[in-house]
Amino acid sequence: MFHSKIIGIGHFVPEKVVTNHDLEKLMDTSDEWIQERTGIKERRFYDPPEKGSTAIMAYKASLIALERAKLKAKDIDAIVFATLSPDYYFPGSGVLLQHMLEMDTKPAIDIRAQCSGFIYALSVADQFIKTGMYKRILVIGSETQNLALDLTTRGRGMGVLFGDGGGAAILEATDEEGKGILSTHLHSQGEFADVLCIREPGSNKIGKSVYENMHLNHDNIHPQMDGQLVFKNAIKRMPEVTMEALAANNLTTEDIDMFLPHQANLRISQMVQKFLRLPDEKVYNNIQKYGNTTAATLPILLSDLWEQGRIKEGQLFALAAFGSGFTWASTLIRF
Ligand code: COA
Repeated sequence: MFHSKIIGIGHFVPEKVVTNHDLEKLMDTSDEWIQERTGIKERRFYDPPEKGSTAIMAYKASLIALERAKLKAKDIDAIVFATLSPDYYFPGSGVLLQHMLEMDTKPAIDIRAQCSGFIYALSVADQFIKTGMYKRILVIGSETQNLALDLTTRGRGMGVLFGDGGGAAILEATDEEGKGILSTHLHSQGEFADVLCIREPGSNKIGKSVYENMHLNHDNIHPQMDGQLVFKNAIKRMPEVTMEALAANNLTTEDIDMFLPHQANLRISQMVQKFLRLPDEKVYNNIQKYGNTTAATLPILLSDLWEQGRIKEGQLFALAAFGSGFTWASTLIRF
């Protein structure tokens, strides 16, 4: 059976930096509150003249990943694209990226698992590679969130948390034992769907068109969240699913060289780190400069480390995520 090795990673974030002080001008908030409660100092907002930003950021990240993998887009067999902020209501952003990369008629699959989206996407791609169906898959996490945020005082609970960006990873089949993605572990709990969501445009209002919904339910077009409930579940599920991955591979936390937690809140990452008893040098956070970029978070973390030369052959990386759905997931990757 084949295994999936990551042979290239890239990311793209928009140029526009939005600091906490910039947000102070839009709503009743403060740099001190945001930094103390979340660790975030700034985030990037996509603000270009072009439309369809999620696919464009994915495209720019993909070109970097392809270059680092020394491949061309034509060498890729399929795309798996995770996002909660697709360019269109339908079709998914995967086909837009497939077209931009001029990938003939190669398949594009869209994944909707929010902050866990990138690990879900890795898992789907990994299964295709293991079975031998595809040899090389482009896995994407990309998000344009600023357009949905309510950047007034009414929406400040959510508005300060999120940023835009895109990340790409290229998986390739290898027959080397013990290398690449060792396993993926996925969970969901839909009873909590309403705890963190954007309700519109949705199909759940019988007899009303999407267009009417958007106008009748102004509140529902912005993200809604019970922050404390999300927080409590995140600090429970992320360590739990990381331990599940370690147990499945007969490994312990001491075997981890680098732990990458989904970047929802620095306090969540620090608590998860504490539960796992990991020293600071084995955990990487970048929420300070990007905020929560949802499905893009993990590939951006990986690409950041790649650029810093901090991904070394043989190292064991553990990735864990938690988010809307609820969904949560983990993976272990041996580079
Ligand atoms: N600036 C200033 N004050 C704010 C604020 C902001 N941006 N957002 C909320 N507040 C206020 C609230 O109105 C509340 O005021 P009150 O006590 O007068 O009612 C107070 O700050 C405390 O709000 P609360 O929501 O209890 O704060 P918190 O300590 O729970 O922190 C979060 C809020 C959102 C940072 C935190 O709950 C969190 O990180 N949750 C998980 C987020 C997450 O993971 N989301 C994505 C999932 S992937």
